[in-house]
Amino acid sequence: LVAQSQTTGGKKISTDLFGLFFEDINYAADGGLYAEMVQNRSFEYSPAERREWNPFSYWEYITPGYSYGKISVETNEPVHANNPHYMVLTAEHVGHEESFKGDAGVGIKNPGFEGMVVKAGEKYNLSFFARQLSEKAVTLKISLQKKDGKNIAETNISTASKDWKKYTATLTASETYDTASLIILAATEGQLALDVISLFPQNTFKGRANGLRADLAQLLADMHPAFIRFPGGCLTHGDGLDNMYRWKNTIGPIEQRVEQRNIWGYHQTVGLGYYEYFQFCEDIGAKPLPVLPAAVSCQNSGGTWRVGGTGQKALPMDEMQDYIQEVLDLIEWANGPVTSEWGAKRAAAGHPASFNLEYIGIGNEDKITPEFESRFKMIYEAVKAKHPEITVIGTAGPFHSGEDWEKGWQFAHQLQVPVVDEHYYTDPKWFISNQYRYDKYNRDSSEVYLGEYASWGNKLRNAIAEAVYMTSLERNGDVVRMASYAPLFAKDKFTQWTTDMIFFNNTTASLTPNYYVQQLFSANRGDLYFSNVIKKDAKDSSLAASCVQDSKTSDIILKLVNYDSAVAKTMKVDLSRFKKMQPAAEKTVLTGDANAQNTLQEKNNITPVTSAYNISKTFNYTAPPMSLTVIRIKMK
Ligand code: AHR
Repeated sequence: LVAQSQTTGGKKISTDLFGLFFEDINYAADGGLYAEMVQNRSFEYSPAERREWNPFSYWEYITPGYSYGKISVETNEPVHANNPHYMVLTAEHVGHEESFKGDAGVGIKNPGFEGMVVKAGEKYNLSFFARQLSEKAVTLKISLQKKDGKNIAETNISTASKDWKKYTATLTASETYDTASLIILAATEGQLALDVISLFPQNTFKGRANGLRADLAQLLADMHPAFIRFPGGCLTHGDGLDNMYRWKNTIGPIEQRVEQRNIWGYHQTVGLGYYEYFQFCEDIGAKPLPVLPAAVSCQNSGGTWRVGGTGQKALPMDEMQDYIQEVLDLIEWANGPVTSEWGAKRAAAGHPASFNLEYIGIGNEDKITPEFESRFKMIYEAVKAKHPEITVIGTAGPFHSGEDWEKGWQFAHQLQVPVVDEHYYTDPKWFISNQYRYDKYNRDSSEVYLGEYASWGNKLRNAIAEAVYMTSLERNGDVVRMASYAPLFAKDKFTQWTTDMIFFNNTTASLTPNYYVQQLFSANRGDLYFSNVIKKDAKDSSLAASCVQDSKTSDIILKLVNYDSAVAKTMKVDLSRFKKMQPAAEKTVLTGDANAQNTLQEKNNITPVTSAYNISKTFNYTAPPMSLTVIRIKMK
């Protein structure tokens, strides 16, 4: 990357500099981006996840019309061994009393994730597995119901199979309503087993089955990220060996996936699993960056802080060969030909073409212990030997400085790990005073993936501090290969980590100033960096700027940042090295009160404003207080 471009004199920088970090934290996946509307669809919620949870959580037993019967949870002959619990519904008496108006029956009601959002005229795909246990077939009356009991979509299905069978139907909503429930009523007497009761809008992102919430996915697409890292974060290594995210558990039909406790205190259906992550990356033109556990759990703890945590820090050595094979199998699954064992599974899932995997992360901010080092080395060397075409990303551990961080880097240097993942969440002032951090990094060693970072807060001040820092990432784009802000999503009232990029509820989202900064940098990436184009007072650390060129379009992009909350400041722009520029450029400015932020109630306090802007070869630009300006210049 260090070579100078022959044609323009710019320094080559990474084309993958700005991407996204996705973790199922703050209900980002289940109840968030993953469009499943039923909560606890497989009756797998358990008290091990939350003391108050059990397989019937979010399912209410209902008996309208003077009916009676019972429900129970069973595990004998489940739909699939990976999905052990199911519900048995027994309708002993279905009321027919004349005085009762409405649907009589014995059944269950699911409110989804605090209510299901339906839109008039839109279609919803229902599916479930049922096994007939009584002699007589049972007629199920299925509806989407408002709080006042009015059905706004309904269908009937008769179940008559003595073996597990998948049933599907389409529900069309007659009204728009934000807090509907799904009702399944046995409308005739009998007994049946039910499992994996699922409801999806047909209108998912790009209409994908088992897909993503269209509005939230679109917000990510609008950022034009170079890559998406998934599935975490700490979710990757889990808090105990039993809680690690094992990719093979997350592919295939949803009823065969292994659901598990989410380290952030809730449940993962893994319905948004590896196939869906890779497909989404492809759908929005981002490179997939799966991060796999380095065979150790969170901080090598073995989950000692939780009930049931065994304290076992790392996978036993006699399981390592199998684990290494699991990592290698992922590469075959993503890229291998359809004739290969794992490539065939990808093809069977609907994607015969390669997913073009280039990067794999091994480990997530793990403590650098002998347990970690030995296992990382084994995995890394096996991947390098079998797949030299894959770039492995290691980890510098949980700190941005100090002995442990140095240990992480030394270890990576020793092994010549191509890219090392650093994480830091800190004060905005830190980002200002450390904006020269990467100027000092060794160019002859591993490159950096700044995999998680954020300043503490979602005010404009935080976002602009990050913008200052991001100009330094561009300047150092020869050694910083990638960067991603974290965390990405936070669901209103279900947030475990308070500084995030996108806040959302079931119907809408609020974009933070931090989102806009990320978007402005990501959508305005370049592959050549030019120094000395923008001159500022060298002593003034509140000012920062960068100039890049995107050689695909030849566009020149200037980013000018002023972190001073009170004073507009002028920088001198000298574009005389560029020939044939169009004078009519475009300028986008993000500015406002340093303490302003956007909320779900007030979404537009801070938004970028784009306007036409005429440039000349040299000009002065006065950056408003607390602002980021992006000027995009086209060539003739
Ligand atoms: O982004 C939230 C958490 O912060 C991640 O899960 C973890 O890697 C880091 O400590």
